[in-house]
Amino acid sequence: MIKSAATSPKAKTRKSPALSTLLLRWYRRRGRELPWRRRSDPYSALVSEAMLQQTTVSAVIPYYERWMRVFPDVKTLAEADRDHVMKMWEGLGYYSRAVSLHKAAGMIAHKRQGRFPENEDHWRKLPGVGAYTAAALAAIVSGQRVVAIDGLARRVLFRFLGMTGNAQNARAVSKMREEGLILIAAKRPGDSVQAIMDLATAVCTKNNPRCDECPVSRACAALAAGDPGRLPAIKRKKIESIEVAVGLWVRGETVYMQRRPDKGLFAGLWELPGGKVEKGETPEQALVREFQEELHRRVRPVLSLSVVRHSYTSFKVRIHPFVVRGVGQAPKSGDGHFIPLDKIGDYAQPAANKKIWRDFFQRKGS
Ligand code: ADE
Repeated sequence: MIKSAATSPKAKTRKSPALSTLLLRWYRRRGRELPWRRRSDPYSALVSEAMLQQTTVSAVIPYYERWMRVFPDVKTLAEADRDHVMKMWEGLGYYSRAVSLHKAAGMIAHKRQGRFPENEDHWRKLPGVGAYTAAALAAIVSGQRVVAIDGLARRVLFRFLGMTGNAQNARAVSKMREEGLILIAAKRPGDSVQAIMDLATAVCTKNNPRCDECPVSRACAALAAGDPGRLPAIKRKKIESIEVAVGLWVRGETVYMQRRPDKGLFAGLWELPGGKVEKGETPEQALVREFQEELHRRVRPVLSLSVVRHSYTSFKVRIHPFVVRGVGQAPKSGDGHFIPLDKIGDYAQPAANKKIWRDFFQRKGS
């Protein structure tokens, strides 16, 4: 009797490739060519992962390429001037990432004598390296077989593992970290981690996933349940609108600016003094109050510039800029000083300031 292929003993014992292998094969054919994937060194991985936190690949690419030209290795970055570092990050947002990356470079170059961390726990100890980034770097740089869960991987794993409800609590995260390992190849964990990201972007998309193109669809629980497009429940934060008043304290050809703290909103950037307009206050009153509270200086608004509206990722702002006259010397406290007006462009500032300066210099006629 001639045996059909399906029932021959040889066919029965032939194993189908592991899911992690199928995913890697797909990545080799369909994965994106990205600048940080061309170089495989720990420094470029650290820089790219810091930039990619909460920022899209297309926004990051030009910043990454310029950064690598200006600060080509960890020692150059560690020794760079803080203002130069912030300037190279200007416009990319979430500025505490730049402050932390600069500090991390200092730690690697000096405390660790140029040695990069060797595992997830050690990566996690660097400033600015959270759970996701530590896992991604452990996989990409240190070859550790771990699952890295950012927003993209969360969507893929949520569906693949047939999860429902919230995907951000500790139980959901540990399920993804443990059961998601089935997609991570022991030999090339970094490629597997990046394959999941690319899969999320090209195939396991937010709307209308292309399950017929998915290399691991045969094991996808959401697809098996007939609901492949399911999404984790997320609470959207309301976009807040705020109103602020800022002062251009001009003296001769200089203006007073101050550096923001290393943490929080616009970390490490230079700003014009001022603050929120509180209920019942006019912008002028808010400005006078803020100068008094922050800098212990009495100022008088002498010219009102055009109101600036700007939308950041998480809030909208309406800014009332005023040229002010002040009494007394520059304050001793705080991280601020009078800087030459023709050097304004060297100081990294929140994006909305560009609009303020454009109006100011137009009126000034220079
Ligand atoms: N997002 C975060 N890390 C990434 C990477 N290495 N490639 C593409 N997108 C990413």
